Formats: sequence, structure tokens, C-alpha cells
Amino acid sequence: MSMNCIFGFSLFLLLLVALNVYFFYILSTEHKPAPFKLPIVKSDPIPPIIREINEYLNRLPSQYHNKNSKFLPSQRDLISSFNSSTASLDSVWQSVENWADEESLFPYKNGAAGHILQALRTSQIALADNAPKGTQLKLLFLLKGKQKVYFKPKRYNISDVIRGSIYAGYDRYNSEVFTYYLAMILNYKWVAPSVIRRIRFNKEILSHATAGLKKTMVKNDKGVCVYGKCYYCKVNETVCPDNNGDIEGAAILYLDKPFKVNKSPWRRSYNSLKMEWENDNDYCKKVSSLLSTKRILNLIDIAIIDFLIQNGDRHRYEVYKNKIILLDNGKGLGNPMLDELDILAPLYQCCILSTKTWQTLELVSGGSLTETIKLLASFQGEHLTTDDHYRAVERRLLKVYATVKYCIGKHGSAKVFKNIDGI
Ligand SMILES: *[C@@H]1O[C@H](CO)[C@@H](O)[C@H](O)[C@H]1NC(C)=O
Ligand SMILES: *[C@@H]1O[C@H](CO)[C@@H](O)[C@H](O)[C@H]1NC(C)=O
Repeated sequence: MSMNCIFGFSLFLLLLVALNVYFFYILSTEHKPAPFKLPIVKSDPIPPIIREINEYLNRLPSQYHNKNSKFLPSQRDLISSFNSSTASLDSVWQSVENWADEESLFPYKNGAAGHILQALRTSQIALADNAPKGTQLKLLFLLKGKQKVYFKPKRYNISDVIRGSIYAGYDRYNSEVFTYYLAMILNYKWVAPSVIRRIRFNKEILSHATAGLKKTMVKNDKGVCVYGKCYYCKVNETVCPDNNGDIEGAAILYLDKPFKVNKSPWRRSYNSLKMEWENDNDYCKKVSSLLSTKRILNLIDIAIIDFLIQNGDRHRYEVYKNKIILLDNGKGLGNPMLDELDILAPLYQCCILSTKTWQTLELVSGGSLTETIKLLASFQGEHLTTDDHYRAVERRLLKVYATVKYCIGKHGSAKVFKNIDGI
């Protein structure tokens, strides 16, 4: 062996050792925060499209891992919308009732968002009834001042992990509230204000309950409990006051306006049969022949939000003023170890995105998104979810970036980004 060869071989060995040390370092540092929690791997073979998106994820430019200083002005605006001192209830409900705007479902600027949340959280309940529409137990309150509010009671502790199918379990009240902040930060203003509220069961609900609501209450070893009226409501599945006599839940502002309901083209089958979109990667062509580009872009915006919270249950969607309103966001925050990428199917199958959405997504990188959720929630004294869920949302945001990069790689940004007014 020549000297050159020996030298080359030693260099190779040295490199090998260095690489080993490097990977060991990467692995050990990466796993430090959550040592035994590896993401759940589905047993189905990984579809090629998902593998490709994962490759983009691994090569994601560093800007998406870092904070973007251009977010600061938007963050300041959000803070001034949410960190506001008390306003008179009459004026708050009046501004809600008279709101007619093409930019947002409800007022939010200059402290309005904070005022509404505070009013939702503190207004006296004048009447409590069942809200029988829908599959999940919720109540309908009439507040003093006539404002209607949905109340989704707590069914799980915040740290409970929901296993099983993506749509398993009861609604998560905190997911409703979390999604409200998330959507507002992502500049998706077609969402109803929602806040965590603790209610004294006897004084505030029982004493103002309609006869109909009282009929769906039972007395058991925990006192008087509610099972409610809804598609899945069962007498043996009650919501009961805690040891302090309180019921906690999400108070959600009621939209007292007519809206249309449509079936989602990307809905799930809710059984083992696969839907067309799950088998056909050209499925978007079919959707494009049925829906406008504007509506598809809107569905993609919703899919991104649903992916971040892992809501796989948006089988239908409600449209008001030709925009999809984010109603019923209780199926998020189920399992922080799971990222069902197929919730993003509208994005990776159509490979289009509103330019405005992409600009907003690029602003909230590097932890800003969840930091801002925590900050805005703190103005109402809310602790919305666990650190695992906050980390999961950031991890999924990286996957959204990667999916968009995949689309750009495949079709070029000129084809991906769309400028359409009014989304
Ligand atoms: C939440 O946890 C508390 C105590 O840790 C327990 O008493 C309660 O039953 C749990 N609630 C639910 C809905 O699981
Ligand atoms: C309540 O009863 C139904 C049958 O009517 C059953 O399927 C369900 O599992 C029960 N729920 C609980 C929490 O025991």
C-alpha cells in the first residue's frame, strides 16, 4: 500500500469517527427535552408524497427555525386587541350585534377582542338551555344583555392524551379557545371569540335552567350532573361539577346570523373504507371542477389550522359572507405525539396557497406562534394546554412550511401562490 493510500484510509476512518460523534451529539441533544416520547409511526406504508415532504422538512432553511423580526408589528397589534381593560357590557354586546364587516366575523381591533372575551367570561347568565344541534354536549346560555353563548363543558383534563382515530373522543373545550387565538394570530378572522369560563353550577346554571335542560340532568354520587341533548349524548355520560361546585368549559360567542353548511370534499369516511381523496392524488382536479379557486384556497387555509391542532373531524364547513367560518374546533389537541399529515391533503394535493397566508405563516416561525398564543391567553388568566401540545404545534408548523416547499419544488412558486382578494 502506498503512503497516499494509507493516508487516505486514515482520513476516512477519522471522518467516520467524527461523524459518529456528531450524530451521537445530535441525537442526544435532540432528545433531551422529551426523552421517551418518539412520534407514533403508523403501520401503513408511507405514501411517496409524505416521504417527499419529509425530505423537504429535513432540508428546511434555517429561517423557518428562527424567529422573524418582521412579526413584531403584528404582534403589537394583537396585544393591543387582546390586552384591554374593562369596557361596559352594553357597549360590547352592541358592537357585536351591529358588526357588519367584510374583514372579520366579529370586532377585534383596538381592544375589542379583549373586551368581548372578558364579557364572555364574566357576564351574568340569565337563562341556560340545551343546544341540541350537533353531535356533542353543549349548552346555550342567554347572557344578561341578551347575548347568546355556547358553552362546551370540560370532558378531559388538559394533560389527558386522546388515543384512537383522529376524530376519537369528546370535544376538547380548550381546543376551541386555543384555535380562536391561533386563527387570530394567523390572520384568519372568521372565527368566533372563545374563552375559558368557570361557572358555579347551582347558582349560575341550575337556578336559570330551562325545563328542557333540567330534564337532561341526573342526580348521581357526584351531585346533579348534566348529560344534555345531542346526537352522541347518553344518560350515563354526564358532566358534573367539580369539588368546588364549578363546571369549567369554553364560552363561545354565538353567531346569530344565517350561514350555509357544505360537505367538505376532504371529509373522512368514519369507517375503514377509504375516501376518494385518500386514493387519488389527482383528486384536486375533481374538486377544482366543482369549487372556485377562492373556495379551495379557503379550504386550504382551514386545513392548515386543522393540521396545527390536529382536528381531523371537519366533515362539513359553514359559510358566511362567502367565507368559511371556523366553527366547531373541539377535536384538536388530542394527542401531542401525533401529526396526521393527511389533514394537509388539500394543500399537498392542490399545491396552491393564498400569498397572504404564506406571508403570515412566514412571520410566525421559530416559536413566535405559540409564544403569542400563551401571551394573548394570559390576558384572560388562561392556561390553555400542556407544553407538549405547544411543542407539537411548532413541530407541525415546520411540516406546513415543508409541504409548501414541496409544492414549490414540484410546480414553482408562480403556480403555487395565488393572489385573490377577500380570503
Ligand atoms: C382530572 O384529574 C383530577 C385529579 O387529578 C381527577 O379527580 C378528575 O377526575 C380528572 N378529570 C377528568 C375529566 O378526567
Ligand atoms: C354508556 O352506555 C352506552 C350504552 O347505552 C355504552 O355504549 C357506553 O360505553 C356507556 N358509557 C360509559 C362511559 O360507560
